[in-house]
Formats: sequence, C-alpha cells, structure tokens
Amino acid sequence: MNMNKIIIHGGRPLTGKVTVSGAKNSIVALMPASILADEPVVLEGVPDISDVHALINILQIMGAKIHFAKGVLTIDPRGVKSIPMPSGKINSLRASYYFMGALLGKFGKAVVGLPGGCNLGPRPIDLHIKGFKALGADVSDDNEDVMRLRAKATGLVASRIFMDMVSVGATINIMLAAVKAKGITVIENAAREPEIIDVATLLNNMGAKVYGVGTNEIRIEGVSELHGTRHSIIPDRIEAGTYLAIAAAVGKGVTVNNVLYEHLESYISKLEEMGVQMTIREDSITVHPNHDLKMVNVKTYPHPGFATDLQQPITSLLLKACGRGELIDTIYERRIGHIPELKRMGANIKIEDNHIVMTSPNELVGTEVVASDLRAGASLIVAGLMAKGVTTIHNVEFILRGYDRIVEKLTNLGADIALVDTNNIDKVKIKERG
Ligand code: UD1
Repeated sequence: MNMNKIIIHGGRPLTGKVTVSGAKNSIVALMPASILADEPVVLEGVPDISDVHALINILQIMGAKIHFAKGVLTIDPRGVKSIPMPSGKINSLRASYYFMGALLGKFGKAVVGLPGGCNLGPRPIDLHIKGFKALGADVSDDNEDVMRLRAKATGLVASRIFMDMVSVGATINIMLAAVKAKGITVIENAAREPEIIDVATLLNNMGAKVYGVGTNEIRIEGVSELHGTRHSIIPDRIEAGTYLAIAAAVGKGVTVNNVLYEHLESYISKLEEMGVQMTIREDSITVHPNHDLKMVNVKTYPHPGFATDLQQPITSLLLKACGRGELIDTIYERRIGHIPELKRMGANIKIEDNHIVMTSPNELVGTEVVASDLRAGASLIVAGLMAKGVTTIHNVEFILRGYDRIVEKLTNLGADIALVDTNNIDKVKIKERG
C-alpha cells in the first residue's frame, strides 16, 4: 500500500485522552537482544510501527520464528544463524546496528551492513567498534557497506571501555556483546537513557548480570547462557512528549496516559517554564488549555538533559509563544530539516551559527511540506494542527517508523487528519495497520 501523505485541516481544538505506546528506541534494541536467549522471549506493549515490522523481517531471515498480535511479540530465536546481513536487507533503520552486538555476543561473529535510519547529519559508529575491539573482536570494514566482526577462537573477553562521547547506541551494543563475554566488562561514561535500563532489565531477566544501568558506569559480569523470559516495554517518552506538545499547542484539556514523569523531567520543566498548565499524576499528565505561553531557550543534552528527539516537536510549540527563543541541539547540529518547512508555513524562524532562532508573533498557515526525518515529521504534525488551513505532509513513511497509529490517536482527540494514498485522487482515510 502506498500511503505517503498526511493531510491536516488545522486549528481544531483537541480534547480527550491519548495513550502512549511502548518505546520505539527500546523495542528496536529489545528485538535484537532477544536473539541472545536460547529460548523464546515474549515482549509486551510492542508498538505497531514500521521499524518493528522491518526488524521482524530481518529476524525471520536470520531464522527466528515470530508471532506478533495485539502488541505481544514472541521471538523464538532457536533457529537463528549468524548469516551475513548485507546493507540492502537492513539499511532502512539505524537500529539494525544492534545485530552487530547481539550476533557477536551470541555466535562470536557477525557480518552486518552499515546502518541507515534518519538523516541527522554524520552519525558515526566508531564508539561501537571501539567497544567490540576492546572485547577482543577483529573488526574489518574493507567493504565499505559491511562490517565484519569476529571474536578470537577463545571468545570475547571482558574489558574496561571508556566512551569518548555519551552514546545510546554504543552503550547498548557493547552491553549486548559483553553479556556472555568472559569476566567483568565495565562501560565508563555510559549513556543513561531509560531505554538502556529497559534493555538491561530484559537481559537480566534472561539471566544476564548487568549492574549500574542508569548511572554512567555499567558493569557486566559475563554468563554462559541466557534463557527465555517475558518483558513489558517502557512507555515511549518521545511519543509522550510529542502529545504533550500537541496538547499544549491546540488542546482544550488533553490527558496523556502511560507517561512516566521521571523519564521526562527536563522536558516537563521546560513546558512549565513556558507557562504550560499541567496536572501530573503517577502515570498520566493532563494539559490544561493554554493561552499565554512564554518563549524559552532550549539546549539538548544526553539524558537526563533535554532529549534531542524532542527538539523538533517543541520547536513547533514554541511558535505559539511570545518573545524570542533559541534552540541549540548539541547532539545533532544538523537536526534542522523541519526549519525550512516551518518557514514555508509562515514561521519567523532562522538558523544562526547552528542556533535555531524564533521570534514572535507567528501565524502558521497550512501548505505542502516534507518530513525530512522522523521527528521533523512530528514537528510538522504539531505545526499542521496549529496552522490555519490545510497542511499536506509528504514523506510520512518517516513518521510511521516511530509513531504507533498516530492518525487514529489524533482523530480520537478530535483532529481533522487523514493518511492518504497518493494513488487515490480523493482524500480517503486509510485504516492504519493493526
Ligand atoms: C539514539 C536514538 C535517537 C536519539 C539519539 C540521541 C535509537 C534507536 N536512536 O541514536 O533517537 O536521537 O540516541 O539521544 O535509540 N556518536 C559518535 N560515535 C559513535 C556513536 C555516536 O560520534 O560511535 C555521536 C553521534 O554522532 C551523536 C552522539 O554521539 O552526535 C549521540 O549519538 P547516539 O547516542 O549514539 O545516538 P544513536 O544511538 O544513534
């Protein structure tokens, strides 16, 4: 099916409740992690997003048996083999790099194509490679599309690894490779994102011995085997943050369910600084109607700092605020694909020395825009809901990579939004998968 446009008639007030799905950045690591087990692993709360379907496809090619229904994904890894996974098979998503760590950890060898995913500027994997080498693997990338990893005949050996930069992907990948290595591996300057804790929880429930996740020093005591388990995925804090931005932008009382405050502290405190009125409960947040929002400055940092993945959604919300504000993305300087599109919608926004600068007033008007990556797409959805008139978003495949049933969820809140098949001349609402 060719579903590649989202059409929004903006300016409608949203009310009601929306429930956040399982975290995309967790599931894309939990699925590769599951092959380390010698028995089936059951994952609950799995979002129905295209990245999950792409990973199911890769796992099946590797020999896993999969069952996926109603958010429950069973992965039986007993038939998995370390067959070469060239780029063509896996370059649609960045998280395919987790197969490097998982296959290396399980079989001591892996041939995996270099990752794809959202284009946010240069996204090297040198730290992943540094970690694999420290564990004793030979790494060659003589064919520039493919990485060949092979442990010495005696297997991987634990090591102390200092991460030159805080990297989510490298921290998880090294964990995956090290869970069965001999001895105690220490990852220093580790990333502390909630998704890393989620992956370690799964691994520990499989029998691994991973300690210190959520701090910047992770210790992994190698074990010889890992068994099956059942695991419930944490809520997606980025999806939650996106709905909170939407609720603050166009809500007349919206409750976001299945959201954990402790995963979003820096974001919520930024919303409070803007003057967004919220009632925060144990696992839900109600955003009250907002009128006078203040412009604020935002700088992204590794967790628990302000998440780079929420920089783009909050940019659109800030266009409702009064004053002048600057956004600096210290993680991905080139994460600016949403800016020219917001400009075309009438935003007073520009880039000065890698700073995104916004000045009020901003009256957004719907037009044709293009999603350059997943969160840029989310930013355009927020803007389209705020804008007068019709916004047509192209390249929505990016959005469907990470947002579970977003059109359905927004429709339930009262939005006039439709996912459209470009082959169809009329605007037709297409039932999303699942
Ligand atoms: C993950 C998230 C992504 C999020 C990002 C930062 C997944 C699937 N994706 O991406 O949504 O935006 O964290 O929170 O979880 N770096 C290097 N060398 C490396 C690895 C990273 O220089 O080997 C740099 C990157 O270019 C970037 C920074 O480190 O500037 C952080 O990247 P990293 O945390 O690794 O991002 P990802 O894991 O790819």
